Amino acid sequence: MVPPSMTTPILYKDLAPWWHLFSSPADYRTETRPFRRLLLAHGNRPARTLLELGSGGGNNASYLKTWFQLTLVDLSPGMLRESRRLNPECEHVPGDMRSVRLRRTFDRVFIHDAVMHMTSEGDLVRALRTAFVHTRPGGATLVAPDCTRESYSSISHHGGNDGADRGLRYLEWNFDPNPYDTKYEVHFVYLLKDARGRVRAHQDVHEFGLFPNATWLRAFRKAGFRAQRVDDPVLRRDVFVGVRPA
Ligand SMILES: C[S@@+](CC[C@H](N)C(=O)[O-])C[C@H]1O[C@@H](n2cnc3c(N)ncnc32)[C@H](O)[C@@H]1O
Repeated sequence: MVPPSMTTPILYKDLAPWWHLFSSPADYRTETRPFRRLLLAHGNRPARTLLELGSGGGNNASYLKTWFQLTLVDLSPGMLRESRRLNPECEHVPGDMRSVRLRRTFDRVFIHDAVMHMTSEGDLVRALRTAFVHTRPGGATLVAPDCTRESYSSISHHGGNDGADRGLRYLEWNFDPNPYDTKYEVHFVYLLKDARGRVRAHQDVHEFGLFPNATWLRAFRKAGFRAQRVDDPVLRRDVFVGVRPA
């Protein structure tokens, strides 16, 4: 068993070629329609170009590209490689959502679960500032974290998928060792079965940010947005939308 480290998760490095067996595009199908509806409902029209920050293996993108012209930014070369295979028609750019500057604006900006990697309020503001400078005046940014301080609960669950000749299963267990700071830990064990049927195990840990709704809204405002939290009856998850004043 490989011991875990608190640096970049191995899921985004050595195990990136296994990403689509960990998290398959099909798992994203139901959420992308409501995301599209909310992206169109906030900010003025047209809404054709979309920048996704922390686009990972491109699962959301594989649906969003039907409706938007996509530019996809991620920190991990391995994850970008997987996304390029799934979404060859999209523009892919390596970059850190806290600092990347593409020197152009988009009708809409989207950050999905990758925002969980912002573990301090400073990093959250930096990521939202990146979103702001890439949102055209009158356009909007939608951010969908896995949870906020108010909606967080400790969970464990398992998942994974089979490919043509390989398979992956994982166990996930998250907990919050210190309820007074702005992060929690997500521990994983992955079981990887190769084409010859041999199975090996890896252990991994991710640190995720955890902020109250008030901190989220303050971070959006500091970045320059007019912001609101959206309660969507279909999505049933935390969603924040910031509009860049025209
Ligand atoms: C859970 S994956 C995203 C999966 C994505 N929602 C999809 O549709 O496939 C999280 C991603 O965030 C990326 N990431 C983490 N920190 C980042 C940062 N500072 N800037 C850009 N991407 C980052 C990781 O490389 C990883 O690909």
